Amino acid sequence: MSATRIDGKAFAARLRERVGEYAARFAEAAGRRAGLAVVLVGDDAASQVYVGAKNKATVAANMASFEHRLPADTSAAALLALVERLNNDDSVDGILVQLPLPDHLDEQSIIAAISPDKDVDGFHVINAGRLSVGQSGFVPCTPLGCMMLLTDRLGDLSGLEAVVIGRSNIVGKPMAQLLLDANATVTIAHSRTKDLASVVRRADIVVAAVGRPEMIRKDWLKDGATVIDVGINRLPPEPGKDKGKLVGDVAYDEASEVAAAITPVPGGVGPMTIAVLLRNTLVAAHRNAGLDVPEGL
Ligand code: GUN
Repeated sequence: MSATRIDGKAFAARLRERVGEYAARFAEAAGRRAGLAVVLVGDDAASQVYVGAKNKATVAANMASFEHRLPADTSAAALLALVERLNNDDSVDGILVQLPLPDHLDEQSIIAAISPDKDVDGFHVINAGRLSVGQSGFVPCTPLGCMMLLTDRLGDLSGLEAVVIGRSNIVGKPMAQLLLDANATVTIAHSRTKDLASVVRRADIVVAAVGRPEMIRKDWLKDGATVIDVGINRLPPEPGKDKGKLVGDVAYDEASEVAAAITPVPGGVGPMTIAVLLRNTLVAAHRNAGLDVPEGL
C-alpha cells in the first residue's frame, strides 16, 4: 500500500484565500482592516524569515501588518511597554511576539502581558485554560492546523486511538486537548515513555512533534494509520552541499508503505501555521469589533 500524501500546502493556500475573502468583507463592515502586530527581538536568522513571511501573508490576506523589530539588547521594561501599547491600540487585533526571545528576557512573563483577547498564538495561560475547560479562546496555530488536516481527512474522530508524541505547551499538550475534544482516545507519549514503538503501534492517528529526525519508523505504525508529522529537522549537509535536507520526525518513505495517509516535510504541517495565524487574527478582529465570526472561518 502507498499512503495518500496529505497536501498541507494546498490546504493552507485554500484557507488563506478564504481568510482573505472574509478579511475584505470585515474591512467593509468594520471600516478598517483587521490588524496583526508582530514583534521580533534580536536578529535570529530563522525568526527573521518567519516574521517576513508572516508580514507578507498578512498583507496578501487583506489585513494590516504592523512589524516591530527591536534590538537584541531590548530591556524587559521596553518590551512590556510596547506590548502594553499594542494591547491598547484599537487597530491591532492580534499580537505575536516571535519566540525564542533572547536569553535575558523571560518568555512566560512577556506572553502573560499580552491581552488574552489579542493572543492569536494561543500561548497565554488564559487561553491554555480556556482550551482545557472548553471555552472559546485562541488555540495555538500548529496544533489547530493539524486538527484541520485530520478532520478534513477523517471526518469524525470519535473513538479513534490517537497518540501524540511530544508534550510541549505549544504543540503536544494543545494537540492532545483538541483530539480529546473531538472524542478521540488520546495518549501523550514523550521521551520517557517506555516502549514508545508499541504505544505508537496502537494509534489510528499519530501526531509526531518530538524534533528527532526520522525517529518514527515503518514498524512502529499500525496498518492504515493517519500520520501527522510536525517535525522540521535539518540533516547534516552531504559532501559538497552547504545545506542539509529537511526531514520530519517520521521516516516518510518507509512510513508511506504502511500508513493510509501522511503529511510530507516540507509541504505538510508547516504551511498551515501561518494560515491558521491569519485565521485566528481575523477571528480576533470580529470579536474586537463586536461582529459575528463567520461560520466557515
Ligand atoms: N517561533 C516559531 N514558531 C512560532 C510561532 O508560531 N509563534 C511565535 N510567537 N513564535 C514562534
